[in-house]
Amino acid sequence: MSIETTDFDALTQELSRIASLSTSAEFLMTTIVKRLREAVPHYNWVGFYMLDQHDAAQEPMLVLGPYVGADTPHRRIPLNQGICGAAVTSAQTIIVDDVNADPRYLACSLETKSEIVAPVFVNGLAVGELDIDSHSPAAFTAGDRRLIEHCASLVGRYLEQRL
Ligand code: SME
Repeated sequence: MSIETTDFDALTQELSRIASLSTSAEFLMTTIVKRLREAVPHYNWVGFYMLDQHDAAQEPMLVLGPYVGADTPHRRIPLNQGICGAAVTSAQTIIVDDVNADPRYLACSLETKSEIVAPVFVNGLAVGELDIDSHSPAAFTAGDRRLIEHCASLVGRYLEQRL
């Protein structure tokens, strides 16, 4: 959408450099959400959810990590709920052009019109995701998808290197 006002290649390179200098996954995720929110006008809410699977007795949950944007009531999302649950369960990026037409959608802000969720993979397994909401309908193009999947893969690779 605002690909004409945002240099996605420069942003991709900048975030790759930041990943190579990061000393914690938390720092990397915090920097990614901050830079994406600042640099791309149609990214109104940007955040990570990571899978909490420490307690085998409990159902796996997506837990809200670093984010920028309005407070969300959805700080923990079971895998069978939301676009967020669907993206990790299917291990696929999901783009929803009209959130109000998707029965899976869990609302964070009434202003949100479209959403993209890209899984974070560690050794081929989805362990979390990068979630972006836009106040514009159908805001996410193939260029946005490449950028968001790249950011998710930076976190996945960072975590892989530290296993
Ligand atoms: N919309 C997401 C929930 C996360 S909030 O938008 C921040 C979903 O449907 O899973």
